[in-house]
Amino acid sequence: MHIPEITLNDGLTVPEIGFGTYKLNGNSGVNAITSAIQTGYRLIDTAYNYENEGTVGEAVRRSAIPREQLRITSKLPGRYQPYDKAVSTIQESLYRANLDYYDIYLIHWPNPKQDLYVEAWQALIDAKKWGLIRSIGVCNFLPEHLERLEKETGVLPSMNQIELHPYFNQEDQRKWHEKHNVKTESWSPLGRASTVLENETIGKIAEKHQKTISQVILRWHHQLGSISIPKSASPARQLENISIFDFTLSDSEMTTISQLTRADGRLKDQDPAVYEEF
Ligand SMILES: NC(=O)c1ccc[n+]([C@@H]2O[C@H](COP(=O)([O-])OP(=O)(O)OC[C@H]3O[C@@H](n4cnc5c(N)ncnc54)[C@H](OP(=O)(O)O)[C@@H]3O)[C@@H](O)[C@H]2O)c1
Repeated sequence: MHIPEITLNDGLTVPEIGFGTYKLNGNSGVNAITSAIQTGYRLIDTAYNYENEGTVGEAVRRSAIPREQLRITSKLPGRYQPYDKAVSTIQESLYRANLDYYDIYLIHWPNPKQDLYVEAWQALIDAKKWGLIRSIGVCNFLPEHLERLEKETGVLPSMNQIELHPYFNQEDQRKWHEKHNVKTESWSPLGRASTVLENETIGKIAEKHQKTISQVILRWHHQLGSISIPKSASPARQLENISIFDFTLSDSEMTTISQLTRADGRLKDQDPAVYEEF
């Protein structure tokens, strides 16, 4: 299945939907990711902290798809934000995956209390100059963190990967991204298979379009202008999740789903202003 692409603010083209790999490790992980690539996914999301960069690299080598057609993303953990550690961690990430470059590399969390994310960002800027990374971005950065990156380095991220699902629609954050040409990417786009997949309101919309609730939610992300990265270990659900480019939600259906948002809708109360992850 062919997935449409968009162009990031630095010129890299990326598919409009990708594949999450959290908890896909070892041989079963390689099989699941190989299946995802066969099904049509070209954007694969991993992280140093998922301990599966090796799994992703192995699936890339086993797939018949030329490396240049894939977009592999990894992420810098909070404990390695000091500049020198960030540089060696990016190199270690590549050794783990046995890849020559990452297409996209993100800072995993801002961890504002430790106040090191600007020097971590400088390391990503330099690693891009050295050819280790093609596009640099962040996750979980609030507008105040993004503004500081721009002020102190002159470089805004190509994307910001944030928690986004119908119970937490991130309207203000998405507006900020749009205004500054930073692409939004949705993590836990299906709410990590929580109760949102049983939501009656979305169920009615799904029935009307003869689609599943997951497909309606992933289409909603797409029409919001966000790249979602659903994870599934199942080949059937992998295919289901990318089969979203043959129907359109109306403006009122989009609004209905967006209105399901809740102030406390985060899955685990991980507010980047205070939450830290190392
Ligand atoms: N940057 C960050 O801080 C951050 C944080 C969290 C996640 N992430 C990234 O975002 C990716 C996606 O988020 P996530 O893994 O937390 O959650 P998710 O993609 O929202 O949901 C994954 C869960 O949904 C199930 N599922 C998938 N497709 C389904 C379908 N069509 N019908 C029913 N159930 C379905 C999966 O089960 P099966 O596998 O059994 O299908 C799995 O239990 C992660 O894998 C990771 O790469 C990033």
